Amino acid sequence: MHQLRCFGCGARIAGGDARPDFRCAVCGELFEVEYPGWVERKGPERPNPGALKWLWRERRSSSEALDHSGVWRFRELLPILDNFGDAVNLFEGNTPLYRLTRAAKRLGIDQLYAKHQGMNPTGSFKDTGMTAALSVAKERGFEWVACASTGNTSAAMAAYAARAGLKSLVLIPDGKIAWGKLSQAMDYGAVTCQLKADFDGCLTLLTQIVNEAPIYLLNSVNPYRLEGQKTPAFEIAEAFDWNVPDHLIVPGGNLGNSSALGKGFRELRELGLTARMPKISVIQAAGANPLARCFRENQATVLEPMEAHTRATAIRIGNPASWRKAARAIQETGGWCLDVTEAEIAIAKAEIGAEGLGCEPASAVTLAGLKKLRAEGKIRSNETVVLVLTGHTLKDADYTIDFHRGTLLDAEEAAGREAEIAALQRNAQVVEANPAAVLAAMKDSAR
Ligand code: F0G
Repeated sequence: MHQLRCFGCGARIAGGDARPDFRCAVCGELFEVEYPGWVERKGPERPNPGALKWLWRERRSSSEALDHSGVWRFRELLPILDNFGDAVNLFEGNTPLYRLTRAAKRLGIDQLYAKHQGMNPTGSFKDTGMTAALSVAKERGFEWVACASTGNTSAAMAAYAARAGLKSLVLIPDGKIAWGKLSQAMDYGAVTCQLKADFDGCLTLLTQIVNEAPIYLLNSVNPYRLEGQKTPAFEIAEAFDWNVPDHLIVPGGNLGNSSALGKGFRELRELGLTARMPKISVIQAAGANPLARCFRENQATVLEPMEAHTRATAIRIGNPASWRKAARAIQETGGWCLDVTEAEIAIAKAEIGAEGLGCEPASAVTLAGLKKLRAEGKIRSNETVVLVLTGHTLKDADYTIDFHRGTLLDAEEAAGREAEIAALQRNAQVVEANPAAVLAAMKDSAR
């Protein structure tokens, strides 16, 4: 049903023939999953768009476990398993699409939405990819799975591995991941190694390990991860009755997610389920901006790896593996790649929190990026915008508390934004246990 096509030289191999590091033996690039049947099956043999749309919606009320998954509900578009009964399923996907009314008003946009992927079972968008790739690992008989991670991939992998009865190995940068995420890997029983290396160093080391031992690599270099992570594109299109929004704004770290969403929207258009693709824009933190730089400097032809620094630790990545795929998604749709500062991220995160949603710092780059795109006149007031919120606010509670206590940003980072920050801060107060003191605290906050 499927094969792998090298993104660099176009070489095609069978799914089971990939090297353990998922790099092309000819040119070293990454692979993409493709389904030759879709091209070969012309005319009435092609998947019928109307029938698929009806089937996927019907499955939402089905009692089958597989149909409850927002990934496997769309299984006709990801036939990567020999037997769908092998799917390891935590009822991922089917995440909410919220309207952001206050931010929309401030920005002068009519229609602004947040697709909250942090509402997945382990609290991040990684679950949609993990159900896909870990199911392949299980079907192919692996005992061990592994990933390098800034925290969310490891949380998702450990959970799905535990469900499947597989053993999992996690490599994370020591001291540079949020506690919530580390605690998940422990809770789900992974072998967790904190390395004196950054994310990029962890991934390089893991690549050496999987080339020596029979361990299945579950980073987003694994093309099956992207097959799962493309399904939010289907959900978004479905939510808009198959008229896609004008803009999709995604955070960029290792750049698997933007690549996957691009693939999802591309396939919908190729199969005739939608008429066009949204403009896909990728936003990075200014201290971890290799793709934004390479768009600025050389139209994304050469990416210069960098040492990355940002408190949005999920996207603290200097040598993103999937940058070419993400660059294609941006370029083919006419989107942009920008970077935003630490203060812009912190403010945007607090604004998303104040709308009752909340998200991780890495997710908040989307709103910060939207503000810039809007200021640069790249998004019109009558266009529809969807921000992809990638992680749950409770993943990194330390960041949130530091922001509200005023200890997150140093004076230089906050320079010029002090009033804006102060207006958003809601620090907890120690108050005497009597009604007058509590009422006084309420009065104080109204000032
Ligand atoms: N947002 C969150 C919350 C993330 O955890 C990540 C990546 C991204 C955005 C960026 O996505 O890498 O596909 O461009 N986290 C990875 C991890 C690297 O290990 O959990 P990307």
